[in-house]
Amino acid sequence: MRQDDGTRGYLITFEGSEGSGKSTQISRIARRFESCGYEVEVTREPGGTEIGESIRHVLMHAEESSKMAPETELLLFAACRAQLVRERIAPAINSGKIILCDRFLDSTTVYQGIARNISAEPVKMINEFAVGDVVPDITVILDIPAEMGFERIKHRHNDMPDRMESENIEFYHKVREGYLMLAKTLPERYLIIDGTRARDDVEEQIWKELRKHVI
Ligand code: TMP
Repeated sequence: MRQDDGTRGYLITFEGSEGSGKSTQISRIARRFESCGYEVEVTREPGGTEIGESIRHVLMHAEESSKMAPETELLLFAACRAQLVRERIAPAINSGKIILCDRFLDSTTVYQGIARNISAEPVKMINEFAVGDVVPDITVILDIPAEMGFERIKHRHNDMPDRMESENIEFYHKVREGYLMLAKTLPERYLIIDGTRARDDVEEQIWKELRKHVI
């Protein structure tokens, strides 16, 4: 997004199922941009603001969340995003920074829309209301088979998985297919990266692609 004074902020979002390695790659890519002299801001969804982190707790960990209706879930994710956009993302874009965001509106399209089966129309409308005119410049999808994500989560947690991680394997097949379908609808925004490869290789691949767009 180019600003009036010519500075250009970038919103780069990272998507993929649980265990796809998003957070590791975001830290690595942030360091890469910083070493090229860019100002970088890293954030995540749900969360990234005080309000958003409180909502994250309700969405993922609170005991009462086991009773949550899919519609409530959709609105809470959107509420988190509305706050994150206004409090952090839009100001960062306006000051010409590169923002790396761990999940964004595509997560809602895929998890609530496709995997939870809420109709596409309200999901799209609520997503648009939450973000206004702030849309990602580029979205990196780390693609891994659902089974691999599950295995990785098991090794990550010695304690209880959160509410979203407790979904069955079928849900995660839908998530994966949902991302791949989304990427087909708008190939110029999405980079599909094979997340099954070694971390260094994945980083190299993402960096090679992002450099073509940003540097
Ligand atoms: P993570 O921070 O470990 O990626 O977990 C966030 C979880 O929330 C993950 O299971 C995906 C889910 N999620 C949605 O279902 N919809 C959304 O809009 C977002 C941002 C996340």
